[in-house]
Amino acid sequence: MRLDKFVCKSTEYSKDEAIRLIHAGQFRVNGAAVMNEAAQVHENNTITLNGECLQAREFRYLLMHKSLGTICSNVDEGYPSLFNSLQIEKVSELHVAGRLDVDTTGLVLITDDGRWTFDIIRPSNNCQKVYRVGLSRELSEDLIEQFKRGLQLHGESQLARPAVLQILAPKEARLTITEGKFHQVKRMFLAVGYRVVSLHREQIGEIALDVPLGEWRYLTADEVQSFAAVI
Ligand code: URA
Repeated sequence: MRLDKFVCKSTEYSKDEAIRLIHAGQFRVNGAAVMNEAAQVHENNTITLNGECLQAREFRYLLMHKSLGTICSNVDEGYPSLFNSLQIEKVSELHVAGRLDVDTTGLVLITDDGRWTFDIIRPSNNCQKVYRVGLSRELSEDLIEQFKRGLQLHGESQLARPAVLQILAPKEARLTITEGKFHQVKRMFLAVGYRVVSLHREQIGEIALDVPLGEWRYLTADEVQSFAAVI
């Protein structure tokens, strides 16, 4: 990870303060002064501040039940950020691994471990995302086959990956996908002439939503590891 990130993870300094101290030559990596905040360091390196050895804090991994009308960005942009309800330290270091739209509810995974996020969202990982979808009109059975074959989404050169559509009620379905393109689910239904009127994410990989609306919990070590297992 970058030296400035390591400093933020191992001290109470903000990113700006960390960069200022790095430029001032306050940090040594394996005995040598490093004044470039972008220098790559490893947690096994001996990194010292004024002679004192620093230890990076553990990464944090959470799940949250996102409410309608909140956004997954770290700043309020016309709508309140879901991070507002997280009363924990250094919230600004956290990000959502696989964002949901403002009008989508359900499971979001939150972390400060960029590598873990990359493992979840990279398409080659085939991580399954399960959505419950409300539609504006009645679903027809032949959609199951169309989703299975792969849909042509507007603006994409390749077909969407095969997806599993389960019809739950005349205007309600469960959709399992392994991609996470911008507005993926809404665009998939649009490609077959349907408008999504409600969208809720139930599951990502092996992790199912199990907290009430607006609430959150830390993931267990097994849950964190579960994404590595499918790589
Ligand atoms: N697909 C969408 O269209 N929106 C979401 O929020 C998530 C998946």
